[in-house]
Amino acid sequence: MTDPDETAAHYKDSSKLAVRGGFHARFAGRSWFGWFDERLGLTPGSRVLDVGCGPGWFWAACQRLPEDLELNLLDQSAHMIEQAIGRLSHLRIGQAVVADAMHLPFPNASFDTVVAMHMLYHLPDPAVALREMHRVLVSGGRCIVSTNSPRNLPQISDLSRVAFGSAIDDVVQARFGTAIALDLMKAQFSDVSQQTYADVYEVDDPEPVIDMLLTMPPGDKADAAGRQRLQDAVADLFTVNDGLVRMQSVQDMIVGTRAA
Ligand SMILES: C[S@@+](CC[C@H](N)C(=O)[O-])C[C@H]1O[C@@H](n2cnc3c(N)ncnc32)[C@H](O)[C@@H]1O
Repeated sequence: MTDPDETAAHYKDSSKLAVRGGFHARFAGRSWFGWFDERLGLTPGSRVLDVGCGPGWFWAACQRLPEDLELNLLDQSAHMIEQAIGRLSHLRIGQAVVADAMHLPFPNASFDTVVAMHMLYHLPDPAVALREMHRVLVSGGRCIVSTNSPRNLPQISDLSRVAFGSAIDDVVQARFGTAIALDLMKAQFSDVSQQTYADVYEVDDPEPVIDMLLTMPPGDKADAAGRQRLQDAVADLFTVNDGLVRMQSVQDMIVGTRAA
């Protein structure tokens, strides 16, 4: 996904994201959403904006939100926003808008916390979105973003390269990999810090691996020959590993503060 039209088509609904979510839910030993929730540190009465909220799965999974939180939702996909509103009816939703992360439709200093989980790498220019996030934060407000570590699920990227010639993670790392994300956050915010989630998935079934790779670019556009190369490469991987492939899942959370 290198252009906004491709990204919009990919996320028109949550079906492809759900295949990836299903893979993580099945094989993760520790929940990413739970880990992120534990570190969110929202205070009572916070006005929070989630940029690129998707179908609202994260907020639905949260166990420790303050009672009087005001959650505001933004996504470029109308379907995602609709799903998030439906799923989060137990929370106080402020605004829920279909808009571009690089042009936030909110006045200056509107929020105490802005979150952008696993989405900034989709943008043509993540720095523009971070500037916007800085603008809509109050002084002292926090910007919390996440991205895939370059060490994340290496076998998945390797399989994609073998079968299709490239991997989506190449784009992710070039746009908003951990090192770039830290630099971009430091250019905009103070007190920037990083925390790393790590888990080892014990994958004992090749089918979800194939399904996931066929919903991720470039596998989502693979022809019959590409799909066959993927089947063969996955079969080889499971044979070499005696049917149990251990994959490292590594994600980074980066937090910065808007200076006064
Ligand atoms: C990988 S999903 C992450 C969803 C959610 N944050 C999560 O972690 O569960 C990326 C989301 O970013 C949204 N997105 C992509 N480009 C966007 C843009 N330019 N502006 C706003 N949202 C965007 C997509 O529609 C999708 O819902």
